[in-house]
Amino acid sequence: MTLACNVEDVPMGEGRAVTIAGRRIAVFRTRDGWYALDDSCPHMGGPLSDGIVSDQVVICPLHERRYELASGRLRTAPGECGVAAHRVSVQDDEVHVSLGAPVAASVVDPVPARA
Ligand code: FES
Repeated sequence: MTLACNVEDVPMGEGRAVTIAGRRIAVFRTRDGWYALDDSCPHMGGPLSDGIVSDQVVICPLHERRYELASGRLRTAPGECGVAAHRVSVQDDEVHVSLGAPVAASVVDPVPARA
């Protein structure tokens, strides 16, 4: 787990971008809990941290694709690439995130190196 931000950095019902290990991560605070997704929309790179949070999804601010906060799954185009979801833990006033694998990397089979 890595310290991402403090609780008061993210207003209720919104997201904020943080950088962890060189990755831009969108941290969301909702009445149901905290969520974290890769910040860049796979469509054209829209910042999900600037998206509208509604009904357990975030709506990309550029072309309105909807990603589930809990899983990163793309709700508006099933079968297309979603975003990585990350574990979030809140301790006292601190929000910690444990990074998962990027979606693209997690579905690509490793190719053995050739000599
Ligand atoms: S950049 Fe997110 S929907 Fe197009």
